[in-house]
Amino acid sequence: MEIKSLGYIGFGAKNPLEWLKFGTEILGMMPARAVPGESWGFPQDPNFKIASGGKGISEDGSVYLKLDDYQWRLGIHQDDENHGILYIGFEVDNVSKLEEAKKHLLENKIDVLDGSEDDAKARGVGGLIKLSDPSGNPVEIYYEPTLDYKFQSPIPNQTFVAGHLGLGHLMILAANREQTYDFYTKILGFKLTDYISFEGGDGAWFMRCNPRHHSMALSKFGEANGMHHIMFQVDSIDSVGKALDRINAANIPISSTLGKHINDLTTSVYIKGPNGWDIEIGADTLNIHDDDQWIPKQFVEGDIWGHHGIMDSIAEVSAEIEEKADDGKN
Ligand SMILES: [Fe+2]
Repeated sequence: MEIKSLGYIGFGAKNPLEWLKFGTEILGMMPARAVPGESWGFPQDPNFKIASGGKGISEDGSVYLKLDDYQWRLGIHQDDENHGILYIGFEVDNVSKLEEAKKHLLENKIDVLDGSEDDAKARGVGGLIKLSDPSGNPVEIYYEPTLDYKFQSPIPNQTFVAGHLGLGHLMILAANREQTYDFYTKILGFKLTDYISFEGGDGAWFMRCNPRHHSMALSKFGEANGMHHIMFQVDSIDSVGKALDRINAANIPISSTLGKHINDLTTSVYIKGPNGWDIEIGADTLNIHDDDQWIPKQFVEGDIWGHHGIMDSIAEVSAEIEEKADDGKN
């Protein structure tokens, strides 16, 4: 099965408009020029106006953000309860690859639902299937995303490193790490790039589906299941530094100071996003081009420099998730 990239992701949020402000003013994303499902009209029709008017807000109040040629990469939907992942979209090349993927999943006894035409419209794609990973994260596999070009960051001169490498990366906390890892590697076909394991079975595992060092990372930290962070890669260290200036000016809490990871060589800062989990803004991430020669290795001693607070942040986010899960049970 050939997943090409992490294409889109949807989150729940108390107030999606908060994300619109944060996504544009802090991260430098652009509101989707048209929200998925609405008409682009006829080419060169001078009288046609896109209904959402480039505001990135759909009729139901969802917010869609764009960071490259893709029509949208982040969908934020009003949800009072769930402020985590509503769906993770992985891209395959075309309809026959999607059919192959479905067959492969069914052979591996994974429940798969066909997305309806309305589902495909709601994502602006040619078609999709729906499933769940063993940690309960809803996963979608799709083909033919809408690309509309004309990305223009509200932050002068900033661009994102995305396109065929996908939107960035995601680190999820997975209590049943082994099963979730087996799902992503043995079934979806991700490759292990590297890992760090702690005493007692906790640790982090970094997996790739294209040259980007990792598109998905799994972290086992106690019993928590959910989001730890999403990473967006910008064009340069200067763009990371300028983001840090905006973060400080807006008094956004920093959960891990500027630093450089020893494995993917990313120089980044982690901040608390509107949903309470972290957002990593980084540059200079390693791409792996010698795929066949690459040997997954354990890195043992953390970061090259900086990233102070990262372990506390993982512990904090995990504890919040576990607390919430316990509240739900009581
Ligand atoms: Fe990361």
